Amino acid sequence: MPNTLLALNWKMNKTPSEARSWAEELKGKYAPVDGVELAVMAPALDLSTLVANLPAGVSFGAQDVSEHEAGAYTGEISASMLGDIGAAYVVVGHSERRDYHHETDAQVAKKAQQAQANGLVPIVCVGEKLDVREKGEHVAYTLAQLKGSLSGVGAAVVVAYEPVWAIGTGKTATADDAEEMGAAIHDLLAEQYGDKAADIRVLYGGSVKPDNIALICGKPHVNGALVGGASLKVADVIGMNDALK
Ligand code: 13P
Repeated sequence: MPNTLLALNWKMNKTPSEARSWAEELKGKYAPVDGVELAVMAPALDLSTLVANLPAGVSFGAQDVSEHEAGAYTGEISASMLGDIGAAYVVVGHSERRDYHHETDAQVAKKAQQAQANGLVPIVCVGEKLDVREKGEHVAYTLAQLKGSLSGVGAAVVVAYEPVWAIGTGKTATADDAEEMGAAIHDLLAEQYGDKAADIRVLYGGSVKPDNIALICGKPHVNGALVGGASLKVADVIGMNDALK
């Protein structure tokens, strides 16, 4: 069983000065938990501050990456730039990018390939909207999305199941909902990657907080969480990390 991953997604929050204060506060309060890895996915502009100020053992990454290696792509950030600064992870295909920037599964797969080619582990996000769940088509929908998003992508990957209706809404999927999807995703990963699938972590994301993380991550096919709102305050992060003891 791989380590549990507690991945924080700050989204578009925290200036570099705020990131520095957060990291310094974390340094004073963080005690590593056996078998739990903590990683911060921050705005790209915050990463150099995090490199200098995060406690030892806490990794970091970005929230998006270009699908291209380098060149005339104004405003984009490449995987080699992220690798050069020491990033371990990059989130790709978050529902906010799929919705607001119209990213397709094929683009998400290219981003994940770029990440891997530069030594980063992509955290590939998938998940259904409410109407799909209400029709009972959430598993088929999410697996199809995942299949497209993993096309040509190697096994050094993390998958995050984030039902869109649970993101930032305070509505959490039940632990059983998360487990149902986690098991279905692990089956698909086993088909695609064979024995290597056993090491791939499947995270749940959507209104995870200190008081529900242990129940959700206690399920066999949920190997961690991707956390938005509750990642912004150090007290909540410590609460979630400690709840995984
Ligand atoms: P919330 O934890 O705020 O629901 O956000 C989840 C998310 O989108 C993490 O990527």
